[in-house]
Order: sequence, then structure tokens, then C-alpha cells
Amino acid sequence: MIYRYAFGQPYDTDAVVLDVPPSEGAVPHLDVAVGEKGQDAVRFSFSMDPEDILFGLGETVRGQNKRGHRYVSWASDIPNHTENLQSLYAAHNLLLVFGKNRLFGLYLDDPGRVTWDLGWTRRDRAEIVSENGDLNLYILEGDSLKAIAREFRQLTGRSYIPPRWAFGYIQSRWGYAGEAEAREVIREHRKRHIPLDGLCLDIDYMDDFKNFTWREKAFPNLQGFLEDARKDHVHLIPIIDAGIRQEEGYAAYDSGKARQAFCTREGGEDFLAAVWPGMCCFPDFMNRDARQWFGEQYRPLLEAGFEGFWNDMNEPALFYTEQSLDRAFATAREQMKHPEDYEGMWFLNAAFNGMANNPEDYRSFWHRMDDGRRVRHDRVHNLYGAFMTRATAEGFRAFDPDRRFLLFSRSSFIGAHRNGGVWMGDNHSWWSHLKLAFHMLPNLNLCGFLFCGCDLGGFGCDTTEDLLERFLQLGVFLPLMRNHSALHTREQEIYRFSIWETMRDTLTVRYALIPYLYSEFVKAAEEDGMLFRPLAFDYPEDARAVHTEDQLMLGGECMIAPVFDQNAAGRYVYLPEDMLLLRFRSAEDYDEIPLEQGDHYVELQLGEFPLFVKRHAFIPLSPGAEYTDALDDAAFRTPGWDAEGAKYELLREDREMLGIEWKKE
Ligand code: GLC
Repeated sequence: MIYRYAFGQPYDTDAVVLDVPPSEGAVPHLDVAVGEKGQDAVRFSFSMDPEDILFGLGETVRGQNKRGHRYVSWASDIPNHTENLQSLYAAHNLLLVFGKNRLFGLYLDDPGRVTWDLGWTRRDRAEIVSENGDLNLYILEGDSLKAIAREFRQLTGRSYIPPRWAFGYIQSRWGYAGEAEAREVIREHRKRHIPLDGLCLDIDYMDDFKNFTWREKAFPNLQGFLEDARKDHVHLIPIIDAGIRQEEGYAAYDSGKARQAFCTREGGEDFLAAVWPGMCCFPDFMNRDARQWFGEQYRPLLEAGFEGFWNDMNEPALFYTEQSLDRAFATAREQMKHPEDYEGMWFLNAAFNGMANNPEDYRSFWHRMDDGRRVRHDRVHNLYGAFMTRATAEGFRAFDPDRRFLLFSRSSFIGAHRNGGVWMGDNHSWWSHLKLAFHMLPNLNLCGFLFCGCDLGGFGCDTTEDLLERFLQLGVFLPLMRNHSALHTREQEIYRFSIWETMRDTLTVRYALIPYLYSEFVKAAEEDGMLFRPLAFDYPEDARAVHTEDQLMLGGECMIAPVFDQNAAGRYVYLPEDMLLLRFRSAEDYDEIPLEQGDHYVELQLGEFPLFVKRHAFIPLSPGAEYTDALDDAAFRTPGWDAEGAKYELLREDREMLGIEWKKE
């Protein structure tokens, strides 16, 4: 059952696809207090029993269970994902409350700042505050967590499905200098039989970091390179950023300006901020015409043969504006008057650090919404990246409505899950970030983002080979399996490491699993389900399972439980039912160990990782390949325990169902 309550004048966020009539009477489950408009205007609160669990909020720090922290929905370009953070790149305003005595969901369709105090001030109380006060609140009721998750997806629409090749391994790095280097990366993978389906091109490919341009010196024969890469079964995936450099004579700027496609200051002049290309204008994605113009910019690249893109810097990230620069210098001039006052240094630091992504800057530009309203940016801030994704996807559809393209974005809002996937932004080569990514998976799925992944190996800092290997072991199960790292960090391609053969063997498991993973992914999308689920979703009666933070259900048959700690040679696992442990070293080399319900210690040396398959079920393991084009959907092995009579319906990319029966080996 879904109830809707409107507050103030809600914005059209494109998040909801169902037309839910407004409900009468008091809001169930919540206390509601309406305050002054524009100032923490609406508060929703509820009390919590000690054992209540909170799922949701998609891309956020900390655990699967969100209780015990304060989160703020405010899309932020923020590279240090430490556990004190309240915001990351996205805003996903869904919360499911699950306890002995209650079960409900709440969704705030609100594009402005929302604060979620989930037992932070008081462990037994949750308080959610909308700054705007212009929103639709949805209350979801159902008889299980799974039922509410499904209901929410029906409310917000079907998840995006990429082409199957996007499930292949993708190599990426900020800093590939040009075609020669990029070709070498592909060659090194192929030479060593390390599977590969995609190569991302970061901002280095652009002419002066300008969107929709090409640095001809570095990439002298783009068409030839693209074609050769495709012959090698590799897709090139360019990055596109949100900002468009203000420069007359630059086609994207000129055409955007002519179409009045950019955000403006209150008086109507262009809003400008510095990002990678220098001073930029920002497409007004809230506006239909601007979206159409932006979508058209991809066309020459699509015509050239590109089939996948990643959209970045779309919170939008602002390095500084002329105004924020002025404010910082004013503080510096003030400090120069009192050099003896060392405490002023703190203000100085804050002033310069605060130049980027400054709240005042977000209050200084305006959008023309589709409904004609002119709206100040901060009121709808969290929509910006989502609407960039929308513009891009609309551009793809206009180019070819029948083709699937790969698209993933850094910033997102619920609704964007219908148009593309997400990656989790600039993580670090830290062990804690392996776990952070794991924790985000089910909550992202809950919010509709089935196609997701993190930078394997870690983006910032120098990785180590054991960390990369453990990241890859998680990556085997992630829809987006991409190794990405930052400029000036240790080179992170698999072949750079002494244990590259171990890493290659890990990837063979991925390719053997792609038919199954893709099938489970598409089923989850089409049935409004989740690929990754907290154990509580499948075993709500099992008190031990519902509080398990470091294991996840995967698809219909499996459970995953990665190793998260450096130098660990195994881990404890709780099995909510009898399961077959598949301990993989490669697609050819794995142990099959039946384990009964209960606690187990599983030994997992560095090159080993587990997949647990429910007793009486099996998974289809394909012979694998070095790229998805060569995957064969015919000869499956069927590891399973006691699976007599079991059948798996494999959903293939061409939408054909292939019935696979269990065979005893
Ligand atoms: C941002 C992105 C990162 C990319 C870099 C350069 O930090 O999050 O993935 O490599 O910009 O484009």
C-alpha cells in the first residue's frame, strides 16, 4: 500500500512514475511538524525499538543498517570517504524501517537538502528534516521487506539494463596520455590472456578538458583506434563532465549559448565556475530544451561508434567561482593586517578550502524548470546529476531507441536508476573502502540502482597487490567491474603486479559467471527486485541473519561473503541455511564443500574467494572467455548440492530463456 502526502509546492523531480492520489488524514508511522518555509520546514520523526533496523539511503557511508549516524542528502564532490561524512555524491531519500513490531518505508521526493538523524542525537529516535518543505512524502506498507522494495520500484520505475558487454572487465585510469598508451594497455591484457571488454578514457583524451572535443595530437586517428579496439573486442568508454568551458568558437559553448541552455545568475548573466577546463557554464538540465541540446552533443560520438560513456563532476562540482575566490582573498587580506594573530590561520584555511562547492555559490544560480518556474539551484540541487543522466539517456534514445548503451554517472537521485548506473566515486586504496562499497550495494539496489560498482583497487592513494586482488574478488560479483585509479598514484593495471596470474584467474570466474549474473540482473530489473539483498530480506525471522553486516544475498541462489582484511587467510561466515561453499581459485579450479546451517570459519588464502550456493539449487558456470563476445551459452557446469531435479532458467541477452538442468559431475 502506498500513501502520498504533499507539503508546500512539490517539484517535478522525475523520480516517481506512478500517479498516487493524495491521502487524507494523519500520516501513519510518523510524527509530523510543519515549521517556517525555507528553514527546516518540515520534520518527520518516529521512535525506535532497540532492535529496529534501518535500510536505505543508497550511496552513504557506514553500514548496511543506517542506524546510529546523521546523514545529509546533499550531492557532494567529496574525495575522502571517511566515516564521519554525512553526504556523498548522491541523494537517495528512501528508508525502510524493520523491527519486531513494525515494517514500513518512507520516501521523501524532495530535491533539496534533507537531514536524517537516525538515532544520532538519541539512539531511540529518528528525525528527518526537509529544509525546503516542498515535497511529496510517500509511506510504503507491505508484508515483507522484499514486498516493500518491489512496491517502491513500481512507484519509481524499472531499473536501467546495460548491454551485456558492460558486465565484462573494464580497465580505466586517469592519466593515459594518448592512443599509444591506451593501445598498449589493451595489448598487455590480450598478450597475457587477462579478460577485457572495456577501456575508459578519462579527461586526458579531451582537448584542454573540453567536453565533446578530442586531443588530436594524442589521438591522431580516433576512428582507426576505435575500430581496432572493437576488432580486439574492447569498447572505448569516454568520460563526459557537466561543465562546458566558456569560450567563443568552441562548438559546444556556442551552440549551448545560442539555445540558452546554461544556468544563469539571478540577473540573467551566465553562472560561471572553474572545473577541469577552466571557467565553465553549466547546462540547465532541469530544462527540456537544454537537455535536448546536451543529448545531441553525444551524437557525433555515437555515430563514430562509441557505445558507452561515464558522466562525471555532476553534483555539480565547482572548484571555485570568482566570488568564492574573492571571499577567500578578502579573508587573506584581513589576516595580513594581523600577522601576529595565529588563530586567524584557521579562518584562512577554512576560507581557501571553502572555495570549492561553496553553499553560497549553490545559492547564486538559477534554473528554468520544465514547468516554467524559475528556481534557485540549492532548492533542487540533488537533481543536477540525475538530470544530466536523463539528458544523456534521452540523447541515446533519440539516436537509436532500440539499442542499449552503457552509461554510469557519479551523482544521482532516485529516478536516474531508470536511465543509467552509478559508480561510487573517488574511493581510496584502503581496506575499509572495500567494506564500504560492499555496504552500499544493497542500499543502492533498494533505491533502484542495480547497475553499480566501485573503483576496484581504489582510486586515490597507492594500492597494494593483495588489496587489488581482494577488490577484484568483490568485483567478480559487481555489475560494473571496473579498475580505476587517479593520476600520480601507483599504476594499477593487473599486469603491473607480481601476482597478475592470480588476478587473471580471479577474472576467469567473473567471465564464467557472466551469463548467470546477467540473467539474475535482468530478472531483478524486470521483476522490480534486487540483485544484492541484506540477509534480513531473505531470512527476516532469523535474528542472527538480520543483524549480519558483512554478507549479502546475491540473486536467487547465492550468498557472498568477501574477505575484507589485509593478511586474513579466511573469515567467519554465518549460513542461514545449508549451502554449498564454492571456494574459487579460478573458473577451472575450485572446491565444493557442503556446509550446514550455522557458523563456520572458512579458510581463504589470498587467491581464494567464496560463493555460497543454497542446497537444492545450483548455478550455471559457463566455460568463460577473454571477452563477452566469445561467451558460449551452451556448455554449462552446474555446481550444486543435492540439486536433483533443479532447473535454472537462464535469461539471455537476446531475451531467450534457456532451461538448464542440474547434472551430477
Ligand atoms: C573525478 C572522478 C574520477 C576521474 C577524475 C578525472 O575525480 O571522480 O573518476 O578520474 O575526476 O576526470
